[in-house]
Amino acid sequence: MSAPATADDRATVLLLSGPNLNLLGSREPEIYGTATLADHVETATTTAAALGLAVEAMATNAEADAVEAVHRARGRHRAIVVNPGAFTHYSWALHDALAAFEGPVIELHLSNPDAREPWRRTSVVAPVATGTIAGFGGDGYRLAIEAVAHLLDQG
Ligand code: DQA
Repeated sequence: MSAPATADDRATVLLLSGPNLNLLGSREPEIYGTATLADHVETATTTAAALGLAVEAMATNAEADAVEAVHRARGRHRAIVVNPGAFTHYSWALHDALAAFEGPVIELHLSNPDAREPWRRTSVVAPVATGTIAGFGGDGYRLAIEAVAHLLDQG
């Protein structure tokens, strides 16, 4: 996991990216676009800064690392934005970890999994997410952070 993005006292949001998202930019661009994961992290970070929030970004291809990142977020981050990649569809370990997180969880997808292959229509993350943003491409990163800001304002 990377070091905190800021050393100030802004509320922080964990932006967690699952498997194969490190390949964004060159991975199936007709589905996922040409922006890189770094571009999406920048979108989230810029949006967060304008709303008085900070983002800590972590990307992993390993299920155990994703679970442990969620564990470390407990008591440390106010919210989690997670694009679980293919973990979405089968990782009950990630489901359980997110269920133990006390703050809002936004499930985020670049594509709309419901409009793709049948096996993508199951999300084991959705039942423990506050809400899901899917199908808006890179703009989803802005929308997810805006959703977090609204949810934290309400709380
Ligand atoms: C994805 C959708 C998932 O079905 C897929 O496995 C991904 C990316 C998305 O952002 O659209 O890796 O989460």
